[in-house]
Amino acid sequence: MTGPAPWVVAEAGVEPRKHAPATLRNREAIAAVLRDILPAAGLVLEIASGSGEHCAYLATAFPALDWQPSDPDVGGRTSIAAWCHGLANVRPPLDLDAATGDWPIDRSDAILCVNMVHISPWEATLGLLAGAGRLIPKDGPLILYGPYRRDGYPTAPSNEAFDESLKSRDPRWGLRRVEDVVAAALKQGMTLERVVEMPANNLILVFRRS
Ligand SMILES: C[S@@+](CC[C@H](N)C(=O)[O-])C[C@H]1O[C@@H](n2cnc3c(N)ncnc32)[C@H](O)[C@@H]1O
Repeated sequence: MTGPAPWVVAEAGVEPRKHAPATLRNREAIAAVLRDILPAAGLVLEIASGSGEHCAYLATAFPALDWQPSDPDVGGRTSIAAWCHGLANVRPPLDLDAATGDWPIDRSDAILCVNMVHISPWEATLGLLAGAGRLIPKDGPLILYGPYRRDGYPTAPSNEAFDESLKSRDPRWGLRRVEDVVAAALKQGMTLERVVEMPANNLILVFRRS
């Protein structure tokens, strides 16, 4: 399925904007890293936009880029639409489940995904990497943000506790090993370019389409 999606309309009398407190804590640090990585112009697809607060912030911080938010959750898409209302460089949010091979978009100059890989089954990450391999042009970036396990680096106690709590909510969730993500990405023609240590024991993984 391709083509533009309609803006999601909020129910009358219901506050459509969700708020994810972590977005306020991590958005500036994420934007600072993106300055070195994103192309000067083009389309950035955001996978798992959630509330839409990152998209609204980043679209304002990077006005020369077009932003395509997405989320499979309709409440998320309603919130994204509300947060991004009036931003000329943000497209209506797409209903996009990364785990499927049927994405409603067929090209993007870059893909950003914040805090989905550990809060979804591994199939969502495999689908995300396959989609990045299909959509991104040569040398285009895929940027993943979140907490990970990493060989040779002790996992912070707070991340161990977070991993436990994620698995108690859904046994298919949990922190992934960077090395497993890198191996799966390679199969889709995505090569790890750099790992950036972020506040609160998070990482940014930057992949490039080879
Ligand atoms: C913890 S929230 C992160 C939202 C936002 N990126 C942020 O940082 O605030 C995880 C998001 O992943 C989305 N998600 C879960 N499974 C997904 C999938 N298979 N494909 C795309 N998004 C998915 C959820 O709907 C949710 O919005």
